[in-house]
Amino acid sequence: MAIEGVMRAGHVQIRVLDMDAAVKHYTEYFGLIETARDATRVYLKGWDEFDHHSLVLREADEPGMDHFAFKVRHESDLDRIEGELAERLVGVTHIAPGEQVGLGRRISFLVPTGHRIELYATAELVGNGLPTRNPDVWPDGLKGMRAVRLEHCLLYGPNVNETIQLFRDVLGFCIAEEIVTEDGTRIAGFLSCANKSHDIAFIAAPEPRFHHLSYWLDSWDDIQKAADIIRKHNLALDIGPTRHGITRGLTIYFFDPSGNRNEVFTGSFPYYPDRPTIQWDASELGKAIFYYEGRLNEAFLSVTT
Ligand SMILES: [Fe+2]
Repeated sequence: MAIEGVMRAGHVQIRVLDMDAAVKHYTEYFGLIETARDATRVYLKGWDEFDHHSLVLREADEPGMDHFAFKVRHESDLDRIEGELAERLVGVTHIAPGEQVGLGRRISFLVPTGHRIELYATAELVGNGLPTRNPDVWPDGLKGMRAVRLEHCLLYGPNVNETIQLFRDVLGFCIAEEIVTEDGTRIAGFLSCANKSHDIAFIAAPEPRFHHLSYWLDSWDDIQKAADIIRKHNLALDIGPTRHGITRGLTIYFFDPSGNRNEVFTGSFPYYPDRPTIQWDASELGKAIFYYEGRLNEAFLSVTT
């Protein structure tokens, strides 16, 4: 599939209360690799990501997400998308090259849920620790859960339907799955910009909140090992290991020391644009989110940052 426009999830910048504790969590336990620091932020990547970073930690007084950024295929995509956003009266802020270590220029805008979304085309290539000629299958020195790559984020907020329409009509995402109420109101959407079951998901809520960031692991065995690591190091478990009905993904949820929810995720299906949108009734929400349990745990709905 030729991917044009928005290509994939690029990075997420989150706020943490204690940088040393956060860096220890995301490197020693989550298994990301630190690539840089600046005055206020630490930059990290999954081992099989070639670009400079996919997670940025910023020390602040409260946890949560600053922005979620997608990488587009070409610099010209930024100009085209900015024009299409302007037609819909969505204002764009220009962020200069180098504002984040290793990245080119970004455009930044608010979507109707109240979350800040950014786009960029250019990133410094730092590689995945393996040669690009005759590589082995993983590099030495990986730690903890050995997080492979940024998978997706789930965000809670108002105006979910308008936000989904913006992602579909301007950014070129497809609605892989959605949750609808009896009267046909869409209360959640799982959106794919390329070949994954989702790159971003939105669930209706009164205020813009950050629900979780998710990194890919390669197997169910790796999810089980993540559970071992959570127990061994007394990380704050949310729920799992278990399975989602939506995406069919295998999952475990836990929290970083600041209270931001993490997920490691595998399984699910490849998405192609000719795949029908899968609909879930709101009355089946429990099965949709946690397939084995058939019901939500209280934290899933109430604990966000
Ligand atoms: Fe997720």
